[in-house]
Amino acid sequence: MKTWLLMSALALAANLAHAQSPGQRLAQTACTQCHSFGKGEPHGVGPNLFGLLGKPAASNAGFTYSKRYLDAMKGKTWDRALLDKWLTDTQAVAPGNTMVYFQDDPKKRAALIEYMQSQK
Ligand code: HEC
Repeated sequence: MKTWLLMSALALAANLAHAQSPGQRLAQTACTQCHSFGKGEPHGVGPNLFGLLGKPAASNAGFTYSKRYLDAMKGKTWDRALLDKWLTDTQAVAPGNTMVYFQDDPKKRAALIEYMQSQK
């Protein structure tokens, strides 16, 4: 009985430690195979996305962006509106860039943006 209680308490603690927002869950399913989100984490196939909102596009040091991306994003700064467009259709924002992603559910986009805004 005591062992059982201890094990449930441990399981509960583990669940709490891993409690995730809907946006974080989405990011883990759809983004983390290519992107890291934590401070100072290495780039993957795509650049690290820590603290993205408020930064100029294509400004992540040490990541080599595609020419198409650089041309299309020149002078743009990441805000919620731009991120919403990007997640809706990356190829409409920067035609020919190397990230292909379309999310037509505004609630999922909002959840992702919420999560990214929390990573700062
Ligand atoms: C298959 C790999 C892949 C996946 C999956 C992916 N990305 Fe990307 N992402 C990239 C690449 C590569 C680039 C750089 C594009 C270029 O240089 O043409 C990029 C660029 C970006 C940028 C621009 C960053 C900057 O510094 O300007 C954002 C924002 C972004 N991705 C967000 C996301 C989000 C959010 C998801 C999940 C919904 C996601 N990506 C899923 C590969 C991916």
